[in-house]
Amino acid sequence: MFCKITVVTILLGLFANHGRSALMSPTCPRGDYQKESPSGQEHLAACKQYTCNSCCFENITTQLAIMPIQQVGKLNYNQCDKLTDACSTQHTYLQCLYQCSPNLYPWMIESTRKLIAIPLCASFCDQWFMTCSADMTCAPGEGNWKTGLNKGFDASGNPVNPCKPGVMCRNYTETYGSGEGLCNNIWGTLFKYSTDTKNCIDPSNPTHNSEVVKSINSSYTTSICSKTEG
Ligand SMILES: *[C@@H]1O[C@H](CO)[C@@H](O)[C@H](O)[C@H]1NC(C)=O
Ligand SMILES: *[C@@H]1O[C@H](CO)[C@@H](O)[C@H](O)[C@H]1NC(C)=O
Ligand SMILES: *[C@@H]1O[C@H](CO)[C@@H](O)[C@H](O)[C@H]1NC(C)=O
Repeated sequence: MFCKITVVTILLGLFANHGRSALMSPTCPRGDYQKESPSGQEHLAACKQYTCNSCCFENITTQLAIMPIQQVGKLNYNQCDKLTDACSTQHTYLQCLYQCSPNLYPWMIESTRKLIAIPLCASFCDQWFMTCSADMTCAPGEGNWKTGLNKGFDASGNPVNPCKPGVMCRNYTETYGSGEGLCNNIWGTLFKYSTDTKNCIDPSNPTHNSEVVKSINSSYTTSICSKTEG
């Protein structure tokens, strides 16, 4: 096996629940590439930190394994033909978290299975912003990729031009201004910038994230994969 799964369940409901929903067992967000609930996967082309227990199917990880990433789902990440490998890597961390992590359900709206206001660690946001400072996007205004870009494919199956007519490409520095601006705007309400180091989610550190979720309510079941196992 690629890795072993460590599942931690402690049945002591002692801590305040800062989550937004009543979901108490691992549930996956609703999406084109998501399972109903997490399970082990034979092979993920990227996001290997979630191999032993993931919410995503292999097909999204095939797209995330390309460097720099191009089309992921319905969206072109390389909007202005200027996406560096380093910037791409930060996006991939975040997409792997969003698409594959089995531990985000405390931030899920139960009725829609949509994630909302996941507190991203300021350190990750700031690093992401610095890494991408000279990369370009054509998302207008505050740079919301969900509402500001064209998505999908044309009749021949080719990706559409992500840039809306008349919108200029700008670098991340000009578009977002800071790591806070980046995290609070790029995916709409999905993420929020958090300086609360003990309670924030770091896409590059699944072990930390598991501990954060357990600290919200110790009844939460989380899992992390250990790559040390044969
Ligand atoms: C933590 O989870 C338990 C088990 O579902 C629940 O009964 C309890 O109310 C939760 N604690 C808080 C403070 O929300
Ligand atoms: C991804 O793969 C899963 C499992 O095979 C499938 O159900 C799903 O429709 C695929 N998603 C897309 C967008 O092709
Ligand atoms: C971003 O774009 C602005 C405006 O064109 C420019 O002044 C600035 O030097 C650019 N910053 C980086 C890091 O490329």
